[in-house]
Formats: sequence, structure tokens, C-alpha cells
Amino acid sequence: MIKIAPSVLSADFSNLTESLRPAASADYLHVDIMDGLFVPNLSLGFPVLNGIRKATSLPLDVHLMVERPVRYVERFCDGGAAIVTVHVEADAEENTHDALARIHAKGKRAGVVVKPKTPAEAVLPFLLESDIILVMTVEPGFGGQKFMADMMPKVAQIRAWIDERKPECELEVDGGVAPDTCRTCIEAGANVLVAGSAVFGAEDIPGRIAALRGEA
Ligand code: DX5
Ligand code: ZN
Repeated sequence: MIKIAPSVLSADFSNLTESLRPAASADYLHVDIMDGLFVPNLSLGFPVLNGIRKATSLPLDVHLMVERPVRYVERFCDGGAAIVTVHVEADAEENTHDALARIHAKGKRAGVVVKPKTPAEAVLPFLLESDIILVMTVEPGFGGQKFMADMMPKVAQIRAWIDERKPECELEVDGGVAPDTCRTCIEAGANVLVAGSAVFGAEDIPGRIAALRGEA
């Protein structure tokens, strides 16, 4: 089953309850946290996360684009995240292991993220500890960028490792996913598709979510 995770970054923050309602048929709500250091942009922090949690009953998939995320993972768990993912590039390997352990200790799902220039192998030290692996299909930092189809071999390689070593681990892609790019992601082995502008920019949001699953 293909899961869709609309990215709240593209939603209307002036009325989150209203703007998130048409996305209720999605599987997760993807929440991008940017610190202005790991990526050259700032997004939102704990008070807004609190508002998002009240505005939707979708499980929150929190993507931390933050330096040394181990400092904050527990607060995101307490703030209502169901899933917290951290970038392998954001800290030393031992601190990333520590971050995953802290998320699990809070009873939440955990995973690692790789930027486009990071090789597939970078996820291997964390595979057995991950409930989800996220492959970026744009440079992280901004919504609305062009999908990088050349990330598909990386997705396929990680899918092969997951099937071999940890079949219950999910495989997510993030960036530029739209009706014309979702199929290639699914064929490469992704089972969770993040989509910001493609969902919240659509006239018919439930129809667009179904289309991204490959149902329409
Ligand atoms: C980019 C973020 C994405 C972004 C996706 O740094 O991680 O989640 O919101 O937006 P679209 O789907 O518009 O590329
Ligand atoms: Zn994201």
C-alpha cells in the first residue's frame, strides 16, 4: 500500500484546521523543521507544531533539517510526532544512533534521511534501527523544487537492502513528487511519498492524494 504524506510547508498557515481538512485521506502529515544552519531556510518550531497537532488527527511525520538533532528529538516526540527522522549529515554517527534510541525510548518511530549528494551506503549503519528511511529527491530547504529522477537508483538500492534485512522498514521520498513523478518513485521501491505543492496546490486535494497513490 502506497502512503501519502502531504507536506504542511505548502499549506495555508493562516487557517491550518481548514487547510488540512481536505487532506484527511492521507496517511501521515509531513512536518519540515528547518534551523537556518543545516539548510539555508527557517520553517517552524514547537509552538506551531503544537497548533498543527491540534489541527489534524493525521500521524505527524517530523523531518528534522537541523544541526545536531539529538538535542531536540525528545521535544518533538513530546510535541506530538509519531515519526521523527534525522539527517545522517547532521551529526557524528554515534550521535545519530543516540538520536534514534531517544526517539524509540519515547515510543515513537524513528529513521534517517539522506540528501541528494549522500550515497545510499550512508544509511547502512542505521538500517536495523530505522522504522523509515527518507531519500531526498530535491536539495532540502524549500518546497516547490524540481524532482531529481537521478535519485531513483539510490531508492532502488535501499529498497533491496530493506527487503533483505528489515522488510518492515518504510522507504520515503521527499521533494518534487507530483502526478507525473510518483510512478517512478513507486517503481523504484518507495512506499511513502511526501508531496507539498502537488497536494496543497491542487484544486481537488482528495483526488490528488488518490492520484499520487497511483489510484487515479
Ligand atoms: C524540502 C522539504 C519537503 C518539501 C516538499 O526541504 O523537505 O518536504 O516541503 O515540497 P514539494 O513537494 O513541493 O517539493
Ligand atoms: Zn521534508
